[in-house]
Amino acid sequence: MSGKIEAGLSAIAGATFLRQRRLRTRAERLSAATLETLLNAIDANDAETGAHVRRVATYAQILGEAAGFDQHTLRSIQRVALFHDIGKLHEALFDIFHEETKLTPEERRAVRTHPERGEAVLEPLTAFYPDLGIGVRSHHEKWDGTGYPRKLKGKRIPITARVVAIADSFDAITHRRRYSSARSLSEAAKAIAEGHGTQFDPELADLFLSPLVCTDIERAMREAHSPKRKTKVNRRKRDKHPAPDIEFRWRRRTKTKPARNR
Ligand SMILES: [Fe+2]
Repeated sequence: MSGKIEAGLSAIAGATFLRQRRLRTRAERLSAATLETLLNAIDANDAETGAHVRRVATYAQILGEAAGFDQHTLRSIQRVALFHDIGKLHEALFDIFHEETKLTPEERRAVRTHPERGEAVLEPLTAFYPDLGIGVRSHHEKWDGTGYPRKLKGKRIPITARVVAIADSFDAITHRRRYSSARSLSEAAKAIAEGHGTQFDPELADLFLSPLVCTDIERAMREAHSPKRKTKVNRRKRDKHPAPDIEFRWRRRTKTKPARNR
């Protein structure tokens, strides 16, 4: 009799486990789809920003891996990198960011609201990704406390934002913008060295400037600027590092393929 009860209980436990696993998988897929949709919305609004955030995510990932962060932190960094500029799409700022003329002081002040506008957009995701909004809000803070919007100093700035700040500056220097042409890798390295301990976390800046990381960043930069090679190498890389956490597609697709289960 007790054998039958035990067998029954173990069948119930097995069924509960399977049900919970199914629910978790569904929740993860929904979450991945939500983030991917948000990224599609950025692309649809502003393809230039969509390309920028992907490059920043790539550089941030390289720096985060070199720093030895765990997978959870790496995923947080990836999400902050991908959505750090979502506040720029706000109606109040969109025209300013796309103006051909130089910004007025008033427009410059408006631009500085984009981290908090980004945090506000992402607010509904806070329950699922507590680090996301605060990381986005903090990506223009500076190590010495002179950044914005809250003048956070040193390690009070979330680690996600400290990593993204370096990757973001690197891309701003090495990628052509409306007011400035692209500058070389060595010029970008010089700017990051100059910001060591003032604008940037000194340890992360040192790591970014180390020969091994610089080589990886340079390779990623060249891939990002040559779409044909990028797709090949990125796919290979992704296969080599399967995501243990929620993965969602954020790299550009070259061909339209039918949706597949992930
Ligand atoms: Fe920004």
